[in-house]
Amino acid sequence: MSGQPVGASAASSSHRGERGHEFESYFPESGSVDMSDPSTDIDETTYAELRELASRYPQPRSALLPMLHLVQSVDGRVSPKGIEACAEVLGITTAQVSGVATFYTMYKRRPAGTHHVGVCTTALCAVMGGDVLLETASRHLGIGVDETTPDGRISLERIECNAACDFAPVMMVNWEFMDDMTPEKAVALLDDLRDGNEVRSTRGATLTSWREAERVLAGFPDGRADEGPSAGPQSLLGLQIAKDKGWAAPGDEKPTGDGVVGRVAHRIADAVREVAGVGGDHEAQPASGSSSDAQAHAPATAETPQGKAPSKPRRRTTKPGEGTAK
Ligand code: FES
Repeated sequence: MSGQPVGASAASSSHRGERGHEFESYFPESGSVDMSDPSTDIDETTYAELRELASRYPQPRSALLPMLHLVQSVDGRVSPKGIEACAEVLGITTAQVSGVATFYTMYKRRPAGTHHVGVCTTALCAVMGGDVLLETASRHLGIGVDETTPDGRISLERIECNAACDFAPVMMVNWEFMDDMTPEKAVALLDDLRDGNEVRSTRGATLTSWREAERVLAGFPDGRADEGPSAGPQSLLGLQIAKDKGWAAPGDEKPTGDGVVGRVAHRIADAVREVAGVGGDHEAQPASGSSSDAQAHAPATAETPQGKAPSKPRRRTTKPGEGTAK
């Protein structure tokens, strides 16, 4: 794959011809951090920010993931100096830092481009044309997967499912979504990125550079968090159908849907109440959207910057008639 556009290899074409499409997990970056390039821009300011991140957590090592994003925002990759700096600030070994940095695919061993482009080729995106998008992008840029254009403007990556299957096939630019892509849209997008034109995610956000996006992921907001809608119509379709039909979660409201569906909904709601033995009550539900968002952005440890470990959702124990869930 390396050194030539995706799909250019005769061997790969014949392989596909014989066996048809095969879905493969793609995690090529499973090696160690590249220690052969010692270049770095990490300075005292970076150290101060790394220390600030560490101070946000009761256990400083909980800050390692955002700290690695900060390293990437400064050095364009996880650099040897970045690993050293994280280890020094956290009081852990460079092997421990390296072990984390090489586990997650968002941490790069080689410099990403000014813009980092990902193309999803997991099942649903593949079915909807993800492989064609990747081949188109690769051919148009003249680079293979995990490579960067000679001018350093764009790097290309094959990505696994980005949980945006309802907008398949999707591409990512600097971790912002580009939904419902086609080869034509992909070429126009890449040309805009290469020419330095302003580009907006299909969800509204103005694209910054990959390094700027990494700084935001590190925990230094750029004030753009509210640009664009948080969920598109495709993701909200089920909710809309439920509203149109008058469906509601058991205990929230009596379903009012008509016909067979409405009657089934009534029965399910009654059965759930009976099994739970809580009459009109039900377990507390997380506030719509906020919980999943919080989980998606929570550090992969047992702590939060607020210093409190997220507790397991607790089952309500109210007896029949003892108030209602919020
Ligand atoms: S398969 Fe591409 S976002 Fe899920």
